[in-house]
Amino acid sequence: MQKNKVLVTGGTGYIGSHTVVELQNNGFEVVIVDNLSNSDIKVVDRIQKISGKRPAFENFDLCDAKKTKDFFKKHSDIKAVVHFAAYKAVGESVLNPLKYYHNNLVALINLLHAMGENNVSNFVFSSSCTVYGQPDELPVTESSPIKEANSPYGYTKQVSEKIIRDTTSANNFFKAIALRYFNPIGAHESALIGELPLGVPNNLVPFITQTAIGLREQLSVFGNDYNTPDGTCIRDYIHVVDLAKSHVIAIKRLLQNNNIKDFEFFNIGTGKGNSVLEVINAFEKVSEQKLNYKITNKREGDVEKIYADTKYANSELGWKAEKTIDDALLSAWNWEMYYRNNLENKK
Ligand code: NAD
Ligand code: WQD
Repeated sequence: MQKNKVLVTGGTGYIGSHTVVELQNNGFEVVIVDNLSNSDIKVVDRIQKISGKRPAFENFDLCDAKKTKDFFKKHSDIKAVVHFAAYKAVGESVLNPLKYYHNNLVALINLLHAMGENNVSNFVFSSSCTVYGQPDELPVTESSPIKEANSPYGYTKQVSEKIIRDTTSANNFFKAIALRYFNPIGAHESALIGELPLGVPNNLVPFITQTAIGLREQLSVFGNDYNTPDGTCIRDYIHVVDLAKSHVIAIKRLLQNNNIKDFEFFNIGTGKGNSVLEVINAFEKVSEQKLNYKITNKREGDVEKIYADTKYANSELGWKAEKTIDDALLSAWNWEMYYRNNLENKK
């Protein structure tokens, strides 16, 4: 039987690579498009090592409209697209907003154009809990209001969802699902793929693992006088493999179900909030490492607390996070150790 072919943009990136593995494990044929602006071509080999199948790979920038169109002409049998390719560094987006508006929006528009021209009608989009800002009520549901974005990056996610919604409204044949991720952490159990930030990490967990392995001297905990039980911020940390699986479910839903709304969006989190200090304590426990950290000033723009109401994703998608925060932190640590001791040396 012929396999359904799925385009994964940004498929050599952090979440994309884990999703490619899960799609392949579920019988999909995958073609990756990535310009390697934030990932390494060796990830394709590592995906093959994990799944036993090599995804097709094409290196180009989705901001190039002609290359994007030519790609769809060449791969006329693509049935669905999962769109990860975007820039994601919140702080950089404040300093260089046009870089973010250009990359994240032009790539999306080019992709939607080319899909339309080639009658590819199924689209899954990487959105973010950042669209909610600091919600008035917790846990945050999909019907919570979208607040003013607190960064150009966050605004690209809000505008992208609007662009996708308008495109599905204007074209009967087009269906899309936006997945609003909370805080993805962790790595594949093989430790062959994981999060690989360029330079100094902005996100908590890679900063923790890089501090524990000795690459960073000390972790700064950004503030301990928030209105939370231990004073540090609360987030909903979701294992990247659980997150990856939600994309497989979304793709199957689009391909198999004709009675769904044209545009749907779901919270993808665990439903549980953890403070920064809880994450540090859990990391110290599972890794058996003592972490060097200190409390510092708050980071500008941080929301105090956010975690997902996942009932809608649980009931409608039939998806639920299965792994614990301990699982996620241990996998992140195993990845950091394996990468630094093995993969990095084989560059
Ligand atoms: P990532 O940077 O690891 O992966 C993105 C990939 O897209 C990279 O491999 C990069 O080279 C590629 N890319 C970027 N612009 C491109 C372009 N114009 N053409 C072709 N390739 C391009 O990021 P990630 O953490 O895997 O995030 C994937 C998606 O999920 C992004 O859209 C991000 O905004 C979203 N998201 C991430 C998080 C998070 O915390 N990691 C949370 C919520 C949403
Ligand atoms: C988590 C917590 C920090 C680093 C970002 C984006 C969001 C989404 C997920 C894409 C916060 C604290 C962090 C450090 C710390 N991405 N922290 N010391 O800010 O929740 O969300 O990634 O869509 O849009 O904004 O994630 O990992 O940066 O921070 O104390 O060195 O850890 O204050 O409370 P964040 P994060």
